Amino acid sequence: MAILMTGIGSYLPEKIITNEELARFVDTDDSWIRRRTGISQRHQVAEGEKTADMASAAARAALDYAGVAAADIDLLVLATTTPDDTFPATAVSVQANLEIGDAIAFDVQAVCSGFVYSLSIAEAMMQAGQARRALVIGAESFTKLLDWQERSTCVLFGDGAGAAVLERDDTAPDGAGILASVLHADGRLRDILYTNGGTAATGTSGTIQMAGQEVFRHAVEKLSSVMDEVLEKAGIAESEIDWLVPHQANIRIIDGMQRKLGLPADRVVRTVGQHANTSAASIPLALDQAVRDGRIQPGQLLALEAIGGGLAWGACLLRWGRLNRAANA
Ligand code: ACO
Repeated sequence: MAILMTGIGSYLPEKIITNEELARFVDTDDSWIRRRTGISQRHQVAEGEKTADMASAAARAALDYAGVAAADIDLLVLATTTPDDTFPATAVSVQANLEIGDAIAFDVQAVCSGFVYSLSIAEAMMQAGQARRALVIGAESFTKLLDWQERSTCVLFGDGAGAAVLERDDTAPDGAGILASVLHADGRLRDILYTNGGTAATGTSGTIQMAGQEVFRHAVEKLSSVMDEVLEKAGIAESEIDWLVPHQANIRIIDGMQRKLGLPADRVVRTVGQHANTSAASIPLALDQAVRDGRIQPGQLLALEAIGGGLAWGACLLRWGRLNRAANA
């Protein structure tokens, strides 16, 4: 039995903030931001626009792509650090917006690794027979967690949403769909990336606090080792990867992973320049762009990886799209 990823969709808020605009109210400049991070601009949610609105738009696009009716979805897993309400889960708002009937629906909080965590959870539940068709969504209003006077963090993040459709296929050929995933977390590293607030602690969400260089060092080391682990688990060689679709935090981390995997530069999907770091939304946003512009083709092997607050990190290998037996024979 295979769990296939058959649809992808995304949504970006209309408003764009360029580096030049940021430099008008915080002590920074375009060249520093681009040199250190690769970021040129980021999107920001409109007044009154909710995380669930963005997630619903991305989910509709993914369902359309897959040709799956909303009514046939029986599992929604939504990764977010910026839910609209303390409860209920943002996933149930999406369920209601899309008029999905009875289903399993919940949120996952693994910050920037949320999409990889959610994929792995959804796949395991589907393998266990709890669902046949799932929406896995990453959606963030991350700019709401920023202190706009703190130049070391406010330049890095943006808002958006991405969604994927997963379908259980009992007749798919070997090697189709999700092949392996590996997840990790180490709470001892909590203090290098966190918010200084929370419902129970302060009654506010707080703002992002980050020891940038330490996060950078752990990102390079941990993404590299988790990619080795997931390749070994799947019994796949680095050279078989068609596309790296990484979490989009910093172009220097992404370039480092490209070199580590020995991939040509044009086999890595890079959206950090236009989207900045959208936390759990960054991977499905990048994947959607590369599928829709025709770079990623059905049957190609994708490597997804992410790290974020926790620290929590993970990687997933999958073959994109529906594969028919004849094509794989
Ligand atoms: N504009 C101009 N100058 C700045 C800015 C800015 N926006 N931010 C910091 N600086 C200054 C600092 O004040 C410092 O000045 P000083 O030397 O006079 O003290 C100088 O630039 C260097 O600062 P560093 O923090 O050492 O800069 P660094 O090269 O490490 O880059 C950065 C900072 C971009 C944050 C980098 O450490 C990084 O990318 N780390 C990884 C962070 C990350 O990816 N986080 C997200 C991953 S997890 C998740 O996705 C939630």
